[in-house]
Amino acid sequence: MAVERTHKVTLIPGDGIGPEVSAAVVKIVEAAGAASGVGFEWHTYAAGADAFEKTGEYIPKELYESVQQNKVALKGPVTTPVGGGFASINVTLRKKFDLYANFRPVKSLPGLETKYPNIDLIIFRENTEDLYAGLEHEIVPGVAESLKIITEKGSTRIALSAFEYARKHGRKKIHAIHKANIMKLTDGLFLRCCRKVAESFPEIEYKEHIVDNTCMQLVLNPYQYDIILTENLYGDILSDLCSAFVGGLGLVPGANLGVECAIFEAVHGSAPDIAGQNKANPTALLQSAVLMLHHLNETETANKVQAAIEQVYREGKKLTRDVGGSSGTSDFADAVLEALASPVAAS
Ligand code: NAI
Repeated sequence: MAVERTHKVTLIPGDGIGPEVSAAVVKIVEAAGAASGVGFEWHTYAAGADAFEKTGEYIPKELYESVQQNKVALKGPVTTPVGGGFASINVTLRKKFDLYANFRPVKSLPGLETKYPNIDLIIFRENTEDLYAGLEHEIVPGVAESLKIITEKGSTRIALSAFEYARKHGRKKIHAIHKANIMKLTDGLFLRCCRKVAESFPEIEYKEHIVDNTCMQLVLNPYQYDIILTENLYGDILSDLCSAFVGGLGLVPGANLGVECAIFEAVHGSAPDIAGQNKANPTALLQSAVLMLHHLNETETANKVQAAIEQVYREGKKLTRDVGGSSGTSDFADAVLEALASPVAAS
């Protein structure tokens, strides 16, 4: 089919398993788009240690300019050194483009057996503040301090994102997750903002849980949660926990949303333990690309890719090792391409 419209997308393949999963995703998105007359122009940039080697900058200025121009990016994971070295590329990009809402849908895939079937919950994580503000210093040797920043503006806008989403998509319940019993000022402010926003959405049930209890409640009965609304650090930790409900980090997608720009990336990191071995599951980044296609109003292409992913999981023959299969990244990607070409309706 002739290309009717082309989207310019900044592509940051990342490192570790990033290049493998992004190559698979680009191939699938292009194939799905081509069948509907949708083209993609990928503007590709390295970030992190790889970029530093090539350009002397961890985030090249061309990458910033590209995201600013295209407004949309698809990003693989980037390794962040532990306990020293350069600042997280992910956190830096989120702050630079004010991508304040981190949207992470956690949904079971058909055919994939897990301890908790039919999970469908969403995490809205504040993405620019909290202990991720990067305000750390050593006061004297042996004493270090990290500042937790919570603002009315930041808390209100993430709460609004969650409530507006719930209203638009018919979700019934929002839990604000906090530790305001201990951090009375910071988490207290976060909760006050959530409560105020909740007042304008009387049709949505609003509840509050303390974060440590939430971990237990999630493991006991994740079905009690619909939307989880929380600060940056709790959201980061709860996202990995919740990924286990649906088969692990290889599956859960994410979107970093701001007013102007959006960067789509999986919840998982660069997985150095399996990098370069054709073992990574590209589903999480692929489902992030599905979120991106919806964001670009390419609903038909988004639905086609999602249906093809689900077909491959229902058939269960070409799954990666993390979800109990024995296929490689490329075999899984080929299976999704085949499913795109020969869709079978779900029974
Ligand atoms: P990780 O998410 O990379 O890996 C945790 C475990 O999950 C590993 O056993 C890994 O093999 C497995 N896993 C992750 N993604 C997978 C996939 N797609 N398919 C199959 N298995 C998968 O977390 P880790 O090891 O704590 O972090 C590694 C690096 O990634 C660190 O440098 C960290 O800072 C960075 N990171 C980057 C993120 C980003 O770019 N958005 C997010 C999280 C971590």
